[in-house]
Amino acid sequence: MPNVHLTGTGCCLPEHVLTNHDLEAIVDTSDEWIRRRTGICERRIARNIDDETTARLGARAARKALAMAGVEPEDIDTIIVGTVTADRQFPSAACMIQKELGIADAAAYDVSAGCSGFIFALEAAANSIRVNGAANVLVIGVERLSSILNWNDRNTCVLLGDGAGAILLQPDPGPGGVLTTHLRSDGAQWDLLYAEYGNSSNPPIADMGPAKPFFLKMEGNRLFKHAVTCLSRIARMALEKNGLDIDDVALVVPHQANIRIIRAVAEKLNIGMDRFFVNLSKYGNTSSASIPIALDEAQRGGRIQPGDNVLLISFGAGLTWGSALIKWTCDRRE
Ligand code: UT7
Repeated sequence: MPNVHLTGTGCCLPEHVLTNHDLEAIVDTSDEWIRRRTGICERRIARNIDDETTARLGARAARKALAMAGVEPEDIDTIIVGTVTADRQFPSAACMIQKELGIADAAAYDVSAGCSGFIFALEAAANSIRVNGAANVLVIGVERLSSILNWNDRNTCVLLGDGAGAILLQPDPGPGGVLTTHLRSDGAQWDLLYAEYGNSSNPPIADMGPAKPFFLKMEGNRLFKHAVTCLSRIARMALEKNGLDIDDVALVVPHQANIRIIRAVAEKLNIGMDRFFVNLSKYGNTSSASIPIALDEAQRGGRIQPGDNVLLISFGAGLTWGSALIKWTCDRRE
């Protein structure tokens, strides 16, 4: 079986910046509370409902990943998207992204795994290369969570944001690439974080009106504890499987939900925060998009070098959690 290499990264954020101070005018909150309890300062909101659809944000991120890898859209044979906020109930966001990219002949489908959607999609993508002989696989994490938020609920609306990130995976006999993935779920806890129905076109985001039954609901406090436990366990699982020590990992790229969760995981793993990539102050929690956005920033910013072991860890609704350990080989920055 070929090795699976990551050869390009990309991301796309909506233009509108919603700061903590802006939120003070919407709900009973304060910049101080949000910063102290979450680390978030601002987030991006897709306000342009025609141009900043889930499909378009995802396609823009994908185009950047393709440009970095030097691959044309028509060479893509598989598109796998982690999302809980596709533009329509169906078809999938992946099919709509396929149209945006003008790809005539590919398999395209979504993976619903809450904030772990990108890691679950990444495992499916790696297997499609190893087992099914796929040659150019786009893995995208994209969300427009703002469209399913209750803008009267300070417990949730201050936390989340919109955005998209993408990577390209390709087979190559050379050493390195995606070494392992580990996925876990606990359906018994589904009601800690859920939304009844709705998609990112309905309602439009501009509607910051009264609560509707389909809006996202979350028990943050209980999720927090599960997040710390699950993220540290899945990180240890990845290290054990690869016979590595945490000191062999150059960079951990965690799901960006809360700086206090990331600090607690760093403490449990006994490593410094300098080896965690954190950008949640700018974007908040973008669910499935948070890890690929972070990866793209880390790659373009030179935080990851070829030869580095990079550990991705995610946790989210389902409950779901997962990891991917990648021996980095991509040396392109743009
Ligand atoms: O993406 C994957 C899944 N999501 C997560 O993993 C999220 C995990 N959870 C969290 O990040 C945190 O639990 C939150 C950020 C959601 C909440 O932080 P917390 O420290 O757990 O706060 P809390 O829910 O225990 O609330 C503490 C207080 C409450 O007031 P009382 O009851 O102590 O008077 C809340 O009503 O803070 C109040 N509060 C707020 N105050 C100002 C809650 N939200 C806000 C707010 N502004 N936005």
